Amino acid sequence: MSAQATFALPAPAKLNLGLEILGKRGDGYHELSTIFVAVSLFDTLEFAPSTATIVHSSNPELERKPNLVQKALLTARRLAPSKVGARITLHKRIPLAAGLGGASSDAATTFMGCQRLWNTDFGFEQLLKAAAELGSDVPFFLRGGCAFGQGRGELLKPLTITTETWFVLVSPNIVIQDKTATLFRDLTAADYSRGDRISQQVRSLERSGTLDTSLLVNAFTRPLFERLPALETIVDAMKDAGAAHIALTGAGPTHYSVEIDPERASRVADHLRGVLGNRARVEVVQAIPPRVPHENWRAPNDTSSSKK
Ligand code: C5P
Repeated sequence: MSAQATFALPAPAKLNLGLEILGKRGDGYHELSTIFVAVSLFDTLEFAPSTATIVHSSNPELERKPNLVQKALLTARRLAPSKVGARITLHKRIPLAAGLGGASSDAATTFMGCQRLWNTDFGFEQLLKAAAELGSDVPFFLRGGCAFGQGRGELLKPLTITTETWFVLVSPNIVIQDKTATLFRDLTAADYSRGDRISQQVRSLERSGTLDTSLLVNAFTRPLFERLPALETIVDAMKDAGAAHIALTGAGPTHYSVEIDPERASRVADHLRGVLGNRARVEVVQAIPPRVPHENWRAPNDTSSSKK
């Protein structure tokens, strides 16, 4: 094997800028409408050549059970033209099972890193299919940036959001076993909606690249607070700290506020760290640009064009 230098790639977290559930599908998944945005909180994956497939993690919890990086590495090896391996070290900073998409981002970054390490191109369609098989949020992270997500979350249309969008993330130290599947199961027909607010938000972003904070609804709010009423104290603390517009990402439990400038975001975050201590992790982040330029992203099943 030729000596390929070790390198590292960042894997960003995401937020859902609103999330509506349209209904349950025949295949057991839910049809959703959401807007994803990649933000400046990162895991880091280090790639080194190896004849084996080895994944280490800085987080002992991830060492104990098979994680999405291991699955993505095995999938990548199947897609590669010749038998190759990699040693991947995952430095975890994104809170686990928090609604921030860390595991999905790590999986997408594994695909990108393997392509670079093995000097190969899996092909766009194949990559997208493999990503969707690993998890509904994985395809978004192949491009990143901002996108309108439909279907299971894997049908994507690129959007542009100004990077002058600041968020204060509050991730409570709370574990819900098998969180995503559990909260999807908790949804009832009363939580379903038609996706109108997400459509309006898409139009707002297309018009001006800015967020309409009045449209940040999330279908998981009711089931999440029914399971964890104590979360109200976190939201109250955010309000007391002067958080401007508070919303829930994914199936939670992370909440975020949208802030107009970084100074204000820092003030809110400092106040919250003081009040919440080790009950929650508090981070200030901003929207980040996509890793693939807009024009190079061929959106599969793009539902946004002339049909609407
Ligand atoms: O696709 P992913 O592996 O992230 O999904 C985890 C679980 O969440 C699925 O097994 C399913 O129960 C639920 N899910 C859903 N509808 C979606 C996405 C996920 O019901 N759109």
